[in-house]
Amino acid sequence: MRPRIVATRRIAEDAMALLRESGDVWVPEPDRPLPTEELHTAVKGADAVVSTLHDRVDGAFADAAGPQLKVVSTVAVGYDNIDVAALHARDVVVTNTPGVLTDATADLTFGLLLSVTRRLGEGERLLRAREPWRFDLGFLLGTGLQGKTLGIVGLGQIGTAVARRARAFGMRIVYTGRRRAETSVERELDARYVPLDELLCSSDVVSLHCPLTPQTRHLIDAGALAAMKPTAFLINTTRGPVVDEAALAGALGSGVIAGAGLDVFEREPDVHPALLELDNVALAPHLGSATTETRTAMAVLAARNAVAVLRGEEPPTPVRS
Ligand code: DGY
Repeated sequence: MRPRIVATRRIAEDAMALLRESGDVWVPEPDRPLPTEELHTAVKGADAVVSTLHDRVDGAFADAAGPQLKVVSTVAVGYDNIDVAALHARDVVVTNTPGVLTDATADLTFGLLLSVTRRLGEGERLLRAREPWRFDLGFLLGTGLQGKTLGIVGLGQIGTAVARRARAFGMRIVYTGRRRAETSVERELDARYVPLDELLCSSDVVSLHCPLTPQTRHLIDAGALAAMKPTAFLINTTRGPVVDEAALAGALGSGVIAGAGLDVFEREPDVHPALLELDNVALAPHLGSATTETRTAMAVLAARNAVAVLRGEEPPTPVRS
């Protein structure tokens, strides 16, 4: 019998072709995030599920699928929506897509960083509102990056790629995280490992690249924001709940920090309404990996992961317990 493969969202055609070679593929029509009940019905009898960050994948999901379920392959690097322990306890392999979205996400991080420090959104809004303007020596002055310090929380693949870009802009790097980077990486970036509190009070820009875990939920709360320089900027392209969004809106509104660049939000797709009113925040709707090339590479890697497990092989990028 051919395996049943459920893709919870339509993915790139190259990836669909790989899946079709290995089994009978089901995708929702029309393409949309499935509410939990529909998701549980859809995965019933699946041997493999290719999922996205919209799907809550937990013990109930695995039980709804049934004991034949072998693999859940998420088309994302982040897997905070997946209860990995519950799946591993049921002998279900979990895979994600690290590596292929590193550059796209680092580019978007730097785009937001430049957008907020150089006030690009403010300038564009002014033009689109047809406000009168003219070149003026004191008009819409931003903050330069050369010689400034970038504090990276989580120097993994994406954090490292952001640091490389920052070095090209003449920035100094400090970082923190669960563990120190390899000496060769520290040397290449001339990066200094510091505790979080030192990073917060010494950085001109703080960029978040740690995964969302119980330990990092609201890592950046009112206290952390108060520890930052009033001239500093916060960039978040990892997961919204790493930041207490209400505290951030308050800090941005009252000048506790100078600005923020946000690609992710605590309750997506909702955005804290106060953030929408503030000029000192650059906003993007979770676009970190959103290039055609990257989304195709993510989907193909996710398909390769699923197919490998169905064939009884080690998948390219498994999530370990
Ligand atoms: C991820 O991969 O975790 C991003 O947030 C979506 O591409």
